[in-house]
Amino acid sequence: MQKLDLQTVNFTDENIEKLAVMFPHCVTEERDEQGQLKKGIDFDLLKQELSANIVDGQQERYQINWPGKRQALITANTPINKTLRPCREESVDFDSTQNLYIEGDNLDALKILQETYLGKVKMIYIDPPYNTGKDFVYKDNFTADKAEYELDSEQRDEDGGRLVANPETNGRYHSDWLSMMYPRLKLARNLLKDDGVIFISIDDNEVHNLRKICDEIFGEDNYLTSFMWKRKKETSNDSRNVAIQGEYILSYAKSDATNFKNESLSKEYIKTSYKDSNDEYPLGKWRPVPITVSKGLSGGGYEYPITTPSGKVHNRIWAYPEASFLKLKKKELVYWGLDKSGVPQRVMYAQDSKGQPTTNYWNDTSSNKEGKKVILDLFGGNYFDTTKPLKLIMRLSSLVIDKEDIILDFFSGSATTAHAVMQLNAEDASTCSAQVGNRKFIMVQLPEITDEKSEAYKAGYRTIAEIGKERIRRAGKKIKEDHADKAGIENLDIGFRVLKIDSSNMNNVYYSPNELTQASLQFAEQNIKADRTAEDLLFQVLLDWGVDLSFPIVKEEIEGKAVYFVGDNAHGDYELAACFDDGVDEALVKALAKREVMRVVFKDTGFVKDEIKDNVEQIFKQLSPETEVRAI
Ligand SMILES: C[S@@+](CC[C@H](N)C(=O)[O-])C[C@H]1O[C@@H](n2cnc3c(N)ncnc32)[C@H](O)[C@@H]1O
Repeated sequence: MQKLDLQTVNFTDENIEKLAVMFPHCVTEERDEQGQLKKGIDFDLLKQELSANIVDGQQERYQINWPGKRQALITANTPINKTLRPCREESVDFDSTQNLYIEGDNLDALKILQETYLGKVKMIYIDPPYNTGKDFVYKDNFTADKAEYELDSEQRDEDGGRLVANPETNGRYHSDWLSMMYPRLKLARNLLKDDGVIFISIDDNEVHNLRKICDEIFGEDNYLTSFMWKRKKETSNDSRNVAIQGEYILSYAKSDATNFKNESLSKEYIKTSYKDSNDEYPLGKWRPVPITVSKGLSGGGYEYPITTPSGKVHNRIWAYPEASFLKLKKKELVYWGLDKSGVPQRVMYAQDSKGQPTTNYWNDTSSNKEGKKVILDLFGGNYFDTTKPLKLIMRLSSLVIDKEDIILDFFSGSATTAHAVMQLNAEDASTCSAQVGNRKFIMVQLPEITDEKSEAYKAGYRTIAEIGKERIRRAGKKIKEDHADKAGIENLDIGFRVLKIDSSNMNNVYYSPNELTQASLQFAEQNIKADRTAEDLLFQVLLDWGVDLSFPIVKEEIEGKAVYFVGDNAHGDYELAACFDDGVDEALVKALAKREVMRVVFKDTGFVKDEIKDNVEQIFKQLSPETEVRAI
């Protein structure tokens, strides 16, 4: 039976495979540190293929560079042997929710999510440390060697010393920040859908550098805009006698398949540009819109005479054919001017408007003060300093996402993004459709220790992740209460699955079942760590097989053993069934095969007898030939 791999993606290997498709003769073999043969690239040959366009060595070129960039790239490509361990106690509606809260370093999280969420996320919003000289930046280990890399991160886990201050006096002040951001953005891009968008909050400290690395990672052509957002109304002498009131939100598309959605008309715009309703135009605020077309400008239009109610005839080139104009007239959607003899115009009601394009200048979209107030209202204390306002994230989201989309925030802080997603879903019920939305969130947050002097610490919150999770619990409950009278509100998903990043479930760090030799098989028998549960194993299998982590999970007892079924069973098809119990016999294997699930996994050492293990594939071949069967 084939074994699961249980490692994150190795991008170097993937890149070699991609090159091999285009230039198979450039792929060669070389020996790795253990003396094993592995695939490599013959650069001399590849250069010949590209000889006209090679930029080599010290030659000048347009690019952003900093000490550590090369290592940052290696960091992004280095696979890790980590996994996500579910935590039911801290979750809400664990079995049914489609939202995820991942606790741990976002670099690990982004690597772990690569397979499962590749090209699936519609919007990413992040609000990383701005590198103000006071905030903390995660210091990755840039050692190229995988063994050292993992050993080192394990050691730092024990120390708990994961974040380091990045003061301006640090000689690598900008470099360290860039090295932190670069691999994360690179991995994040892979997760975006083709029509996905990333928004990144930033201020003057690093906006110039961020723009440059994003141009490189997302492509200059995919730069959408930098929103200038007014974060506070007060003025203070922030730096060199300038009162800094604004900050930026950079936005990049994954590809040219993206356009921002129109926004609904602002109250201010309606007030200044629309007329009040009256007996003649009774359906609310309205405005006249010209329907004449200039001759020669567009070359289009329709020429015919129109007679006004007062009998005056206008012979012009109109935007609509005569039949369409007559329909407008019948619906009383024509404005003839005050004296009923003017050039006719179309009546456009505000309520029928398709909205307007957004602008890149947001001076009236909430403020940091309002963000803090939301936390104060929910917790009764000032538990988080850098909360973004809810309305800001809701406004960004509504430019991009549809009701079923996934939003990722991997610097989640107090989880404003999760709050915004639940709020938007609830508001759908109160507006058009009488049905809640089904946008889903993935939050990632380091369990960064709270300061002993902080209000949050005194209230018992030891990490920022604890604050984030509690905010979602409280916000979800409040949103449901606030919308209690709305149809369908009982279906609002205010749950979330807590998944914590941890070392692999396997004892030896480099366990890779595919590579097991006969000699190591015995050792592999005790290879699952003693403290790991069946659900821990289940999530590692989901990750490895790229099965959606938010699928419902159902536990059944079959032939006296616990079997987990994963998937949206609405259509009668589960994605995966897993049994990690010992004592698996032929009756259980047959019963499971009859369920015809897409994938089935057993514990390698879980069979009562070796013969049963040897027969598993045969049994499935007979009863459910489409099922993929693996062992862990
Ligand atoms: C500016 S705050 C985000 C605030 C958030 N937008 C809100 O409204 O609450 C940045 C957050 O990123 C977290 N963070 C920093 N480095 C991280 C890392 N490597 N992985 C995950 N989270 C990280 C910090 O703990 C902090 O909570």
